[in-house]
Amino acid sequence: MKIILLGYMGSGKSSVGKLLANKLKYSFIDLDSQIENNIEMSIAEIFQVKGEIWFRNYEKQVLDELLERDEAMVISLGGGTPCYGTVMEELLQHPNNITVYLKTDLDILTDRLWPEMASRPIISHLQTKEGLKDFIRKHLFERFPYYSQAKFTVENNADVASTVEKIVSRLF
Ligand code: S3P
Repeated sequence: MKIILLGYMGSGKSSVGKLLANKLKYSFIDLDSQIENNIEMSIAEIFQVKGEIWFRNYEKQVLDELLERDEAMVISLGGGTPCYGTVMEELLQHPNNITVYLKTDLDILTDRLWPEMASRPIISHLQTKEGLKDFIRKHLFERFPYYSQAKFTVENNADVASTVEKIVSRLF
């Protein structure tokens, strides 16, 4: 079984994924970190040097390779991964893939992302916290049709451990 976590930047995919994998004794792969290791560049550098289209094609290629592995794992996607091309469709096709949307409130996303904007190319151009909040609100609206197709939606507004418990209770 592969548990695939999706959701907006700052929704906690990596921290929830790590703890969930640890609890289930599955391997854990963070797609962004995997890409950074492969290319030996940060995500911000990849966007700058190679561009977003290159990144979107490459993230799909890395994800496809992971999905082909015959191994139980928890995979944390990038915030945009399921929203491009046929990724979401393909994720839903395989019965062994359990997709989980981590849903986080707008105010919490804004507070978490505000200090990290410089390292996140999608939001690094924004100037004010209010501007960031407006951007996230619109962007979430555009991405919701993809995120909402996940098999389970679990709120991640409080602590990571309770989110992991909620996911486990839905799985088994
Ligand atoms: C992106 C989210 C990032 C990373 C890239 C693009 C997005 O991942 O893949 O900066 O389009 O939402 P995280 O959600 O892990 O920060």
